[in-house]
Amino acid sequence: MCGIVGYIGKRDVVPILLDGLRRLEYRGYDSSGISALNKKQITTIKTVGKVKNLQHEINDTISSDQLSEFTVGIAHTRWATHGAPTEVNAHPHLDDSGKFAVVHNGIIENYVAIREQLNQKGHRFLSETDSEVIAHLIAECFDGDLAQAVAAALSKVEGTFGVAVIAVAEPSKMVVSRRGSPIVIGVGGREMLVASDVSALISYTKNVIYLHDNDLAVVTCDGVDLRSINNVPVSREIAKIDWDISAAEKGGYEHFMLKEIFEQPESLANAIRGRMDESIGTAILSGLRFTPKEMIEISRVTLAACGTSMHAGMVAEYFFEDLANLPASVEQAAEFRYRNPIIEPNTLVVAISQSGETADTLAAVREAKQKGAVVTGLCNVVGATIARETGRGIYLHAGPEIGVASTKAFTSQVAVMLMMALKLGRSRRLSVEDGISLVHEINKIPELIRATLAHSEEIKSIAEKYASAENFFYIGRGYLYPVALEGALKLKEISYIHAEGYHAAELKHGPIALLEEAVPVVALANDIAGKEKIIGNMQECCARKSPVIAVATEGDDSIDNHANDVIRVPASSKFTTPITTAVALQLFSYYVANKRGCEIDQPRNLAKSVTVE
Ligand code: AGP
Ligand code: GLU
Repeated sequence: MCGIVGYIGKRDVVPILLDGLRRLEYRGYDSSGISALNKKQITTIKTVGKVKNLQHEINDTISSDQLSEFTVGIAHTRWATHGAPTEVNAHPHLDDSGKFAVVHNGIIENYVAIREQLNQKGHRFLSETDSEVIAHLIAECFDGDLAQAVAAALSKVEGTFGVAVIAVAEPSKMVVSRRGSPIVIGVGGREMLVASDVSALISYTKNVIYLHDNDLAVVTCDGVDLRSINNVPVSREIAKIDWDISAAEKGGYEHFMLKEIFEQPESLANAIRGRMDESIGTAILSGLRFTPKEMIEISRVTLAACGTSMHAGMVAEYFFEDLANLPASVEQAAEFRYRNPIIEPNTLVVAISQSGETADTLAAVREAKQKGAVVTGLCNVVGATIARETGRGIYLHAGPEIGVASTKAFTSQVAVMLMMALKLGRSRRLSVEDGISLVHEINKIPELIRATLAHSEEIKSIAEKYASAENFFYIGRGYLYPVALEGALKLKEISYIHAEGYHAAELKHGPIALLEEAVPVVALANDIAGKEKIIGNMQECCARKSPVIAVATEGDDSIDNHANDVIRVPASSKFTTPITTAVALQLFSYYVANKRGCEIDQPRNLAKSVTVE
């Protein structure tokens, strides 16, 4: 999820590694480190915080003579998923002998089992991370051939990885491989670079080789020997990058927000990975740290959050009631903290916060703890204040969200709370069959998002048709009511258009007075419960001359006669339709704002994390 850089060649290694890490800074991270090899030993330096801290530590620790002796090196910026952001948990990680160094992007699902096996063989682990097992596995598998050892080690790993490895035994090479996390090789003249992102190497070469999943490459100054992890020769073409550096930082997308919208199949796969137990139809959420008895004792759920995270909580309110038979309510965190909330015994308070630093949500956590609630946190940033102060919770694993307008965090929040509701439901009324069918539904989410994104061109053309409107309404019912609110917020945030989200039934109680030809209405008319009623609301809007833009299920033509334009999303249940519909509305907002020439990633007046009241 974060940044990898490697270099082998005739130039000084460390400055190139640091330059590459600085090119990756835009991605957001919590710590960084380098390992460099001078034929005899590996020197490793790691620090928390910004890359400049690493730079200072290197300046204080490595002499210029030492710097010139290094011939190969790897470096990493970490976005923690397992283990707080500390120096020990930062990458690179080494084996006990210090003769193998690894940097890793991704999540190793079976690291606990691997760690236990290696502990029994005498390996000693220094960090809390999942990644460290790779270094020890390589050492365990090494019998004179580094590439074979890396292949053997990675074949034991479940989960995702992008790795770069160096070893004292073979100082003239780097070995890289990937499964689910990108690795690209930069081909230079008698020098080679590897990185997780083109932006780290584009200033040295525009000739690159993108590894495919399960590719493994042995990289030397003279070239690349490509094979599969199963040692089958592989050939990959050398691509020519025609992006400039700023485009490269966004992965070729015009804005981080668009990149993050299109990242959602992967970010949701990361949110779900290793958390589904299909055999008994439940979710594995060890971070909740509830015993079955404690889960049964929970009598109600209160969700405290702000903004987009509050909208995710509003969707989850339906999950907890429908799946776990638990009364649930959503509280705007600022309201919660000041209203002297009534916390009944066995109330579970769920604090939802992408940044984990929102002041009002943090205050709500403290107030809930003060009143004896069981509090859990849903954060995207490992080690964030809210995560630490709740002491239990679930990380989104969505990766850094750079765009101020939240997109992939929202969909991961909804998915993670769907898993929470499944887990709580299975400790109550849900049968194994119900649980297994929901597990299948949850596992389909990345594919459902991919199918939604496939409509991006149609959504773009509809968005551009209405981009000059100055007022919008978004209406929805049931599971889609919170999505109407979120869709309106997205449009407000990035296009500066006044957009209001309303419950569809509420329109006729006043707001309908505002409808006219210049006021388009986005109606969420997916083929789930409430659709017939929404069609009635759409007719009310049409009767007032408001153009209606419907979000509808693929293949459901019953909507077309009641809307001026129709945005299609794939068919799915009420549990996952909020996610696909939110993705469609994220794209709609993005294309409206882009057509209006707005500053999308850093909208005026907004901050990514509101750490003040
Ligand atoms: C979302 O697009 C906004 N940037 C904002 O509403 C955000 O969701 C809110 O500030 C809460 O942030 P948090 O999830 O980091 O707590
Ligand atoms: N899961 C690894 C860790 O927590 C890698 C995280 C990343 O991709 O930066 O250290």
